[in-house]
Amino acid sequence: MHAVSVSDGIFWVGAVDWNLRDFHGYETPRGTTYNAYLVRGEKMTALVDTVKAPFVPELLARIADVMDPAEIDLIVVNHVEPDHNGGLPAVMAACPNARVVASGSGVKGVAEYHDGLVVEAVGADDVIDLGGKTLRFLPMPMVHWPDSMFSYCAESRTLMPNDAFGQHLASSERFAGDVGMDLALEELGVYYANILMPLGKPVAKAIEKVHATGWEIDVVAPSHGVIWRGAEFGRVLEAYGRWTTNVTAEKVVVAYATMWGSTKALAESIADGIAAEGVEVHEFDLSETAIAQVTHELLEARALVLGSPTLHHGMLYKVSGYLTWLEGLKPAGKLGAVFGSYGWGGGAVKQITGRMTDIGFEMSVEPYTEKFRPTAEDLAAAHAWGREIGKAVKG
Ligand SMILES: Cc1cc2nc3c(=O)[nH]c(=O)nc-3n(C[C@H](O)[C@H](O)[C@H](O)COP(=O)(O)O)c2cc1C
Ligand SMILES: [Fe+2]
Ligand SMILES: [Fe+2]
Repeated sequence: MHAVSVSDGIFWVGAVDWNLRDFHGYETPRGTTYNAYLVRGEKMTALVDTVKAPFVPELLARIADVMDPAEIDLIVVNHVEPDHNGGLPAVMAACPNARVVASGSGVKGVAEYHDGLVVEAVGADDVIDLGGKTLRFLPMPMVHWPDSMFSYCAESRTLMPNDAFGQHLASSERFAGDVGMDLALEELGVYYANILMPLGKPVAKAIEKVHATGWEIDVVAPSHGVIWRGAEFGRVLEAYGRWTTNVTAEKVVVAYATMWGSTKALAESIADGIAAEGVEVHEFDLSETAIAQVTHELLEARALVLGSPTLHHGMLYKVSGYLTWLEGLKPAGKLGAVFGSYGWGGGAVKQITGRMTDIGFEMSVEPYTEKFRPTAEDLAAAHAWGREIGKAVKG
């Protein structure tokens, strides 16, 4: 297995998980990578992060392309989540001379994950000299967990920010410019929407903290997906700037589920009404489409229009399941509107309205409900309701 040179003295030695299709509850059709980096000084070599446990043999084989793993002097645990720290005990067994460091909270996390395993704490005041190469650390609580930390090598102008700026993208290429910026930025957005959306404030703070250090950065090497070089990272920061401040476009997501097609027919008329106002619209049947894709479109959308027929006085579970996903992600600064077909007493629309209100959607548009199969007049009314939403998001 080959290692890839990332910057002066730094090598990618991670693993490619081509077949991962679900990452803690959402779809990852393009797989992912668990990135780990060797930083080689004149006196010492550090391994920054390990990999998910089943991928340790791949990690060790890539390290062996550069050096004997037994000669590694230092292991840095930037984050204790098992996709990066799961392989730590097996890697420590292969690197018996390595000192292991993590953030203060990471030290506790390593012990909790690995039966009391004791490692050393490092913080913002620590510098580890590898001989001609140094490593510095910045604790980054909640980017992605309380223990998360960024590592930096000044001499190679390389930042290793772990989960920040990552993408779930398996590839034989290691650099964003080589897979193409369009694909890399698209997957950056899917990742932000489905993982980092509720953490916008800590992520924005992390970016400020890095700026405040004055660190010179040419290469940003995250723990998932491809590596950003030079001006590419400017485009990443531009996108993160929009997402962490909830900037939206004239764009609406219409999502629904249906039993017999009435709610779907309403969705189509509503989406057409929104589009008739010149507003970008995306329409998804939640039984057919990956929640990751719906949420990615929602990231910069100004409104979510959610529909369900009534089943036993309530909403369909696909809609409820999607609301559960959004309750975690807490999209902010968006308009919400609800529609659905019912047969007698109804109930779904009221339930959805309550849950969207609790999430924080602005629910200023009256819901649109309709009994059994929509007539031509009902569809025209749904279209007009869609136009109303289109006008509201243009305001
Ligand atoms: C199993 C089942 C349970 C239902 N329960 C209710 C209910 O409790 N209250 C109600 O108003 N309608 C109820 N309905 C009627 C549906 O809401 C109605 O048929 C609606 O038009 C279905 O919309 P759809 O074509 O989008 O699935 C139920 C329908 C089914 C199939
Ligand atoms: Fe994580
Ligand atoms: Fe991760």
